Amino acid sequence: MASARGEFGSRFGFIMAAAGSAVGLGNIWGFPTQAASNGGAAFLLVYLVLAFCLAYPVLMAELIIGRHAHSNAVSALQKIAPGARSRRLGTTTGVVGFITASFILSFYAVIAGWMMAHCLAAAANLLGAPDIAAWLVNMGTTRNILFMALFMGLTVGIINGGVHDGIERWSSRLMPVLLVTMVLLVVYVLTLDGAMEGLKVYLLPDFSAAISPQLIVKALGAAFFSLSLGVGTMLVYGSYVSDKENLPVLGGLVTLIDIGIAVLAGFLVLPAMYVAQHSGVEIFNSAGALISEDTLIFTVLPALFDTMGIAGVVVSFAFFALMSIAALTSSISMLEVPVAYTIESQGWTRHRAVLLIGFAIGVMSLIILLNFDTLFGLVVSVTTRYSQPLLGFMYCLFCGWLWHRDSILQELKNGAPDVESGFFWKIWPGYIRYVCPAVIMIIFLQAIFG
Ligand code: TRP
Repeated sequence: MASARGEFGSRFGFIMAAAGSAVGLGNIWGFPTQAASNGGAAFLLVYLVLAFCLAYPVLMAELIIGRHAHSNAVSALQKIAPGARSRRLGTTTGVVGFITASFILSFYAVIAGWMMAHCLAAAANLLGAPDIAAWLVNMGTTRNILFMALFMGLTVGIINGGVHDGIERWSSRLMPVLLVTMVLLVVYVLTLDGAMEGLKVYLLPDFSAAISPQLIVKALGAAFFSLSLGVGTMLVYGSYVSDKENLPVLGGLVTLIDIGIAVLAGFLVLPAMYVAQHSGVEIFNSAGALISEDTLIFTVLPALFDTMGIAGVVVSFAFFALMSIAALTSSISMLEVPVAYTIESQGWTRHRAVLLIGFAIGVMSLIILLNFDTLFGLVVSVTTRYSQPLLGFMYCLFCGWLWHRDSILQELKNGAPDVESGFFWKIWPGYIRYVCPAVIMIIFLQAIFG
């Protein structure tokens, strides 16, 4: 049954796909500046601890449920639910999950479109077409719609290829390119004037800044978004993993790669910002904090590239290619969530599911683009601040309280016969039962009232 619905062909393929989902825009445009503004190396340490103590256990919950059920999130939660009421709860969680995933994709495609436009603009400059380049970096409606559609088209094209020929093939190709590009950019940027100052700001530890409760709450939210948790993405990817694989190890590797790339991005972004400052570019906002997110990517860094002559055009191309790749391997994981559901629960063919759902999400992106000021922030905050933590809470409930512990152990033993005597099984069941749901609730309440 598992292979009829598709399965990752190799361990490497799964790790690249899941890490590809996890490594996205959040790692590069949010994490480095957040770290630098909040205690440097001390923040890295806090983030590392949080990611392993709280996000990793939830990732494991999704992977175990998915691999056990070998099905989409809705059917999987129904399958492990012990009674009629918990089945209904499972259905609701799965459905809210795929709706959330679709909405996250609808705003993600907008931003990813901008990345691709900037990448092509650098190419146009290299080819001696500055007018086209100028149009490509200008925030016009036509450009925005065109590139959002182009990005959705790529996402749809890859997901149309299925698990093995689409997700696995493209993740295995693109993730190594991403890593190599990033390392080359880091090495280059570190040779420029001002870079060392950025490195100091990034790495000098300040524990007083890093352990404020508010910051921990924020870091945890970031870790959840970064590991793509709650909406069923990792559950669906887990459902394509062979029974022979050792899940705690695979999940641990994915978490490590995600954090590793976020940390590595800091070695690129912070030095680049201080190089920019060295060339007279403003890198602090009016409140005195380091500029981050979209302004960092589309204003500060391009201003830096502009000062670097022809090298700047090449670096700009490489940087925006890197961002586009990071976005694409994440967006395919979002689209797979509703696609897997409609294929398995509604009996649609993959082709039909991908086209119709991709089109519907494209229309949502279009509506967001045409009402940007009212809708963009709203969709981001409803999906990532409210829906994701609540859904993560539900996964803890299912794994910690509703699904029988012996069945979980049985599932893990398929690929890890000694798991019962190991470290993971000593810690994880208690974590997913008590610690994770309690902490997620605190984050959620903080997000609403804080
Ligand atoms: N983790 C990705 C990032 O850091 C985004 C992402 C992919 C995601 N799939 C997701 C976020 C599912 C939430 C839910 O950019």
